[in-house]
Amino acid sequence: MPATAIVGLQWGDEGKGKIIDGLAADADVVVRYAGGNNAGHTVIVGGEKYVLHLIPGGILHQGTLNLIGRGVVVDLAELAHEVDGLVARGVPVEERLRIDGRAHVIFPYHRHIDRCVEVWRGEGRIGTTGRGIGPTYADKVARTGIRLADILRPELFEKRLHAALAEKAALISKVYGQVPEDDAELYDQSRALAERFRPLIVDGGRLLSQARRRGECILFEGAQGSMLDLDAGTYPYVTSSWTGVWGIGGGAGFPPRAIDRALAVSKAYCTRVGEGPFPSELYGEAGERLREAGNEYGATTGRPRRCGWFDMVSARYAAELNGLDGLMLTNLDVLSGFDPIRVAVAYRVDGETLPGFPAETDLLEQLEPVWQELPGWREDITGVRRFEDLPANAKDYLRFLERGLEVPIERVSVGPGREQMFVGENGHEDLWAS
Ligand code: GDP
Ligand code: IMO
Ligand code: MG
Repeated sequence: MPATAIVGLQWGDEGKGKIIDGLAADADVVVRYAGGNNAGHTVIVGGEKYVLHLIPGGILHQGTLNLIGRGVVVDLAELAHEVDGLVARGVPVEERLRIDGRAHVIFPYHRHIDRCVEVWRGEGRIGTTGRGIGPTYADKVARTGIRLADILRPELFEKRLHAALAEKAALISKVYGQVPEDDAELYDQSRALAERFRPLIVDGGRLLSQARRRGECILFEGAQGSMLDLDAGTYPYVTSSWTGVWGIGGGAGFPPRAIDRALAVSKAYCTRVGEGPFPSELYGEAGERLREAGNEYGATTGRPRRCGWFDMVSARYAAELNGLDGLMLTNLDVLSGFDPIRVAVAYRVDGETLPGFPAETDLLEQLEPVWQELPGWREDITGVRRFEDLPANAKDYLRFLERGLEVPIERVSVGPGREQMFVGENGHEDLWAS
């Protein structure tokens, strides 16, 4: 069974949690390789809702191992909280979870700095989740970060934490003019948490290499989305990690050449949380209607998501970068009752059509989308389980997306439940054999 990447194609919240959970039944290992608890991946099983932030989406399946890869930034207190919540609901998390010791750790000062930087940016703020993600990755790149494996070495950890606290206290007080949080207990608390997780800490690269040799099925679970990627996305309105397929090599510790297949999850329309350009955004009442129909409120922060039509320009750009083999399309049911449906098929600035997705953030804010209108449908499709049973206009909408993206739609999701999904017209019945 192959190694399969599943990433977000848009600005996050595409329904990755649901898709990963659905595929995880056949997977031996599910791996998160980027981001942290800025992610919120919703899985609904038998009417029960689980929102996963750090724990990979195979956790609800017996016999599936879940690895938090080295490219993830881990807030240990939040991880403990998430583990406890699942254990209380009867999920034997500790049997199924492993954490790479090379993963960097989010400390309270990272969260504090995240908030300070956002205030400092003023009008230019990113609208981060406030989870300390950016400052933790910044420390990693600056080589002042602390990894999980470091906390397990008390003397080393004491030195490194001491140095970090001195630097961060100076930054918070002297640059941002704030009072640093009380850190008297931080050493002991972090040590206790790391010791609690010691039995789960592994060399993730080795674990995956062994799994690969055994011919096991490995799923790489993207967090955020390709358009929030540090290099590919709408910089600076991005997150601080490599969210696409390209992030897997370093973030999981897995040879990129050994990734057999790249799938992306996309909604049948677009959403974005936080600030930054969103070319196909719908404003006012139209956006509100889509938000209510899709219940588009963030799984992590509860913030209302900005909503818009499907954006073929950014989707083609992201499909190409990821080397996409197929699409998992979610939330098609939400479009029932929208007639006509629109798709942004090109971007125009001052009457000129841009050749692709531009690097210039200011252009992204000025451009006008070129719209293609497609006829909608009124029927409730949440009960549909075969492509053939979709209304004709819904079929044509999917065909239009497939033609534009030049990849097959492997699965179509028509509701949040596990069972609300079927194979696309050109999708493979057996995804693993394809
Ligand atoms: P993720 O971050 O990509 O895992 O996505 P989120 O969980 O943040 O947001 C996706 C939301 O859409 C969740 O509330 C899901 O339960 C829901 N969802 C997933 N697939 C579908 C679908 O096909 N239809 C509808 N209506 N909701 C869906
Ligand atoms: P999942 O995995 C949607 C957004 C934030 C903000 C920007 C930077 O659930 O799809 P950060 O806290 O990462 O520094 O914030 O990125 N963002 C997400 N938006 N889904 C996510 O994750 C996100 N993770 C971060 O809203 O605009
Ligand atoms: Mg989410």
